[in-house]
Amino acid sequence: MKSRVGSQGSLEEGKDSVTKVVTQYKPLSIRLLQFLLLFLGIGIVFSLLSMYMVRYSVMQNVIPMVQSRFQPCFQQLSLESWIRPPSSLLHSMNDTQLFWRASIVPQIKEYPFNRTRKIAFMFLTRGPIPLAPLWERFFKGNELYSIYIHSLPSYRPDFPPSSVFHGRQIPSQEAKWGRMSMCDAERRLLANALLDISNEWFILLSEACIPLHNFKAIYHYISKSRYSFMGAADEPGPFGRGRYNPNMVPEVNITEWRKGSQWFEVNRKLAVDIVKDDVYYPKFEQFCRPPCYVDEHYFPTMLTIESPRLLANRTLTWVDWSRGGAHPATFGKADINDQFFKRISESSICVYNNQPTSLCYLFARKFAPSALGPLLEHSTKFLGF
Ligand SMILES: *[C@@H]1O[C@H](CO)[C@@H](O)[C@H](O)[C@H]1NC(C)=O
Ligand SMILES: *[C@@H]1O[C@H](CO)[C@@H](O)[C@H](O)[C@H]1NC(C)=O
Ligand SMILES: *[C@@H]1O[C@H](CO)[C@@H](O)[C@H](O)[C@H]1NC(C)=O
Ligand SMILES: *[C@@H]1O[C@H](CO)[C@@H](O)[C@H](O)[C@H]1NC(C)=O
Repeated sequence: MKSRVGSQGSLEEGKDSVTKVVTQYKPLSIRLLQFLLLFLGIGIVFSLLSMYMVRYSVMQNVIPMVQSRFQPCFQQLSLESWIRPPSSLLHSMNDTQLFWRASIVPQIKEYPFNRTRKIAFMFLTRGPIPLAPLWERFFKGNELYSIYIHSLPSYRPDFPPSSVFHGRQIPSQEAKWGRMSMCDAERRLLANALLDISNEWFILLSEACIPLHNFKAIYHYISKSRYSFMGAADEPGPFGRGRYNPNMVPEVNITEWRKGSQWFEVNRKLAVDIVKDDVYYPKFEQFCRPPCYVDEHYFPTMLTIESPRLLANRTLTWVDWSRGGAHPATFGKADINDQFFKRISESSICVYNNQPTSLCYLFARKFAPSALGPLLEHSTKFLGF
């Protein structure tokens, strides 16, 4: 009212009212500024809070937002958080860091929880696993297993979410046959599998392998064995002792030199021994190069020196060398019949827990993709699943 009068009245009056208005507006603009700053402050606090919450819920593996909002800022450590397997096999550790982490072993032998003992099936492959449908059928209805795949780093798998192979790829590097990089890949598989405390036995397989029995039979055979199935033989001749290099002394004496199949099964203790080794590794890396094939000598020799009494000294994986040459026979569609599986099951007598047995092999190789059809068709009859 007054300012309106002022604007219509004399200059004097107008001037007076202007100063009055200014003095009235000055605290108002400061208040406005304060108000805006308060708003800004609240805004910043809120955005920081929500950034923290997003990170927190990502770390918690996507707990519903409502739940995480009411969680306290600190999380109580529980036993569960130590024994739960990693939710994703992807990690940013390099081999040095991964092997260190994998070599951590509890010193109290009795577990304060009911530990389920699983078999880790470790697939060392180049790319796809053509016999995957057979393995899917093998694993179906069972729980005491976990799967790990090491493939060429360039390979992008496309297993559907319903597959047992989905998301089971570990961070991989190139591995060359007969070279130390092959043993590196095998140690990488063991180290990744060791991160799950439930894994008690570790089996190395290739994309050309098949199981010869059903899961329960294989689990029983391995879990009841007193020994680990690492092939280890003291072989005279050029392909055995002939590959030994005297520079390996004193770590490896020629009497301790062993040869065995690359495809092994070891228990958790031996898996840790392999991953943590820094005594034999440098010797093999330097002195076992083609025509010394390190994947046939390193683990068999090392474990024979360290833990001879834990080894069965034979492999569980059947393979046919009878045709001669540098590589074993590959079997396709036409080979899958009664005689073939009879031949495998009657091929030898071996020792199981110090008793003779004819059940010597749980796996077989090498199978071409074309074998998949007849194998699936007759899996109940030939393989028991
Ligand atoms: C892994 O990273 C650590 C730390 O950066 C480094 O000391 C080590 O040499 C690396 N190991 C490999 C195998 O690259
Ligand atoms: C483990 O399982 C057994 C029987 O299944 C039960 O009696 C025991 O209390 C369980 N122990 C723990 C630590 O959960
Ligand atoms: C290897 O071991 C045998 C018996 O254990 C021993 O007689 C021989 O001297 C050793 N050789 C070397 C090169 O150390
Ligand atoms: C395996 O061979 C080692 C010697 O190389 C021996 O001490 C051990 O008893 C053998 N294992 C079995 C089950 O015979």
